[in-house]
Amino acid sequence: MLRPDVPLDVEALRRGRTTACFGAVIRYLETTDSTNTVAQQLARDGAVEGTVVIAETQTRGRGRLGRSWASPAFRNLYLSIVLHPPVAVPDAPRLGLVVGLATAETVAEWTPRAALKWPNDVLIDGRKVAGILMEMDAEEDRVRSVIAGIGVNLNMTPEDLPDDLRGKAGSLRMALGTPIDRVAFAGRLLARLEARYTQCLQEGFAALRGAWERLSCLTGRAVEIDDGGRRFHGTVCALADDGTLQLRDTAGRMISVVAGEVTVIDGYGKERADS
Ligand code: BTN
Repeated sequence: MLRPDVPLDVEALRRGRTTACFGAVIRYLETTDSTNTVAQQLARDGAVEGTVVIAETQTRGRGRLGRSWASPAFRNLYLSIVLHPPVAVPDAPRLGLVVGLATAETVAEWTPRAALKWPNDVLIDGRKVAGILMEMDAEEDRVRSVIAGIGVNLNMTPEDLPDDLRGKAGSLRMALGTPIDRVAFAGRLLARLEARYTQCLQEGFAALRGAWERLSCLTGRAVEIDDGGRRFHGTVCALADDGTLQLRDTAGRMISVVAGEVTVIDGYGKERADS
């Protein structure tokens, strides 16, 4: 049974830390507008790399593309982490793929049905269970900080889901039929985030591409991608070393898509176009 309104045991999370840096400082809040907003302010005030903000609920949880993020209390994980990556401004967006990979790998520790939907949604059986919001603070060509905001639906029940998300979103608990230990999940997430982030900085994003593609649910699928102005249609071929999604259109031309919202034509149930 899921016990209602039990706060996350942040002391247990601190005691059980297996990372060198991520989560060495954790700011735990019962309620806030958005953990990303709190983390942005902490970064401006000099917060060190790996500083984490966790809230039990958010009154203005933010999603990608100006959407909101449903944040019912005591159910899920709403976590933001302060990064000071030594990368050039054009390379920073690739970190969103790294955070998505680490998050999907963490979900995969609970279920092999975890999948990545470019750019960084995590799905189980086609339903979104986690989303990433990356926000950068830069001056000219220098990245001051990047906030990686991660929302993972761990123990949300169908009743907690807003009407517009029914059938599209889910939670680990809904998928597995068992309550999820939020402290254990947060601890594993921080470990995987630190490992993949460090690897990316040391070896480059190309070193992570294979792991990312193995978890991708899009390869071989016919998709439409809306980048906010244009719509691209094609079959997903691969993720490139620079993080762009490679599509082949019906005329056989390759298209590189930098950002956007993917819609899978025919959903996830059908045969892939390449199978
Ligand atoms: C998405 O639209 O898929 C991204 C959702 C990101 C939600 C997380 S929850 C923690 C952090 N704080 C926010 O306001 N947003 C991110």
